[in-house]
Amino acid sequence: MSAQSDAYKAHFRIWRGDADGGGLEDFRVEVNDGEVVLDIIHRLQATQVPDLAVRWNCKAGKCGSCSAEINGRPKLMCMTRMSVFERDETVTVTPMRTFPVVRDLVTDVSFNYAKAREIPSFVPPPGLEPGEYRMRQEDVGRSQEFRKCIECFLCQDTCHVVRDHEENKSAFAGPRFLMRIAELDMHPLDAAPETGLDRKRTAQENHGLGHCNITKCCTEVCPEHIRITDNALIPLKERSVDRKYDPLVWLGSKIRRRNRTD
Ligand code: SF4
Ligand code: SF4
Ligand code: FES
Repeated sequence: MSAQSDAYKAHFRIWRGDADGGGLEDFRVEVNDGEVVLDIIHRLQATQVPDLAVRWNCKAGKCGSCSAEINGRPKLMCMTRMSVFERDETVTVTPMRTFPVVRDLVTDVSFNYAKAREIPSFVPPPGLEPGEYRMRQEDVGRSQEFRKCIECFLCQDTCHVVRDHEENKSAFAGPRFLMRIAELDMHPLDAAPETGLDRKRTAQENHGLGHCNITKCCTEVCPEHIRITDNALIPLKERSVDRKYDPLVWLGSKIRRRNRTD
């Protein structure tokens, strides 16, 4: 066995506390070959701090529960290999900064569920039964990318519009949910427009699309490698702007409105 695969002691610095406050605590903890940060957190629970609070479920990068900040970067603890750190490096693990702390590494992410509930769901096309829906493969592929989302909320955590700006939270849904609006807006079978629901307008007026300045930080942290900015937010912005400022789109909507009232 090579020296590189031997167990060693790592220096971990972990935020401990609750909604009333807390601070960083230092630990020396064993690391074995092939382990990820979540393994080390579990070893700490088992050997030194049995009451260390951490949320996790799958340990496979699929449930989206173990989100935290590792050396200041939003990451899944179960998908961050210890081998990416130098052996003498301090590994600092803190809770997601954008959401209120419950305890230790566990945050209250209910902001995200509230935002999810604000978005009207898919409107089934009238006159078609499930099973009769037909879509072009490229339309299927487009929304399939967005459906890989595991709702880890790392993109929400990193977005500078709400990170450190509690005052923006009521007016901004965040990248994950603007992406959901984009997905529904580009769905060829969504009958929302026929019911009078203009998803582009609600993205601008109710969900804060205009706050996004396409910095792509959300895309950079997405563990599913979804191109949130390029494939969802920028196209949604382009279609919103087209609608608002394109004189032909404006004229077309006027004519359609007049025809409806004739
Ligand atoms: S691209 Fe937009 S949504 Fe994504 S992190 Fe930047 S400002 Fe936030
Ligand atoms: S879009 Fe990516 S980063 Fe955002 S919640 Fe979904 S999986 Fe997580
Ligand atoms: S424990 Fe499920 S994503 Fe990490």
